[in-house]
Amino acid sequence: MANFAYLLGDAAAGECLLVDPAWDIRGLLQIVEDRGLRLRGAIATHAHADHVGGRLFGIGIEGLSRLLELAPEARVWVHDADAEELVKLTGVDPNRLERVHHRDTLSMGETQLEFLHTPGHTPGAMCVKAGDALLTGDTLFVGECGRIDLPRSEPLKMWESLNRTLALLPDETVVYPGHLYGPAPTSTIGQEKRSNPNLNVSFDEWRSVLGA
Ligand SMILES: [Fe+2]
Repeated sequence: MANFAYLLGDAAAGECLLVDPAWDIRGLLQIVEDRGLRLRGAIATHAHADHVGGRLFGIGIEGLSRLLELAPEARVWVHDADAEELVKLTGVDPNRLERVHHRDTLSMGETQLEFLHTPGHTPGAMCVKAGDALLTGDTLFVGECGRIDLPRSEPLKMWESLNRTLALLPDETVVYPGHLYGPAPTSTIGQEKRSNPNLNVSFDEWRSVLGA
């Protein structure tokens, strides 16, 4: 499935956060340790097992429950609308969640992260903006968008997230998606607006192409 996990850190503050740590938790914690950083916790772009852990196709993925066990101070930032599903999937203690909403921010030293609620793939899907970087989870991939045929997905919300929220960001914003599904691991909002068929499209046009 080629999931991406990301490490967002502030070197001066000596702090970091992991984004979507589902696989190889020990390996990810080793990377944090090798950089001499203190782990504040994790951000979940949305509550799906391949991003947060849980059971998927009968396979157990260690994910956040393992991370919170190995890092007892760590907390998990998740959008309010996916928090309950995340607890159901991973079994993590709800008291260790930081429930966030659209445009909430989180600071690590001088670095400020902003959460953008981008529902559609799931009700609480969100993107994380860090300077010029945008971590898009399963909302926007290079050349594609996330699935909207899943039990909790909502096509109209996905169209709005792509065309009303993400398309308004500056063209030079660098996109870091949740999976390697396109021809390259990253892109920019400008590039996606030019070449991704899910952006710069009316809802009716989009829906007819999808057959939704
Ligand atoms: Fe997903």
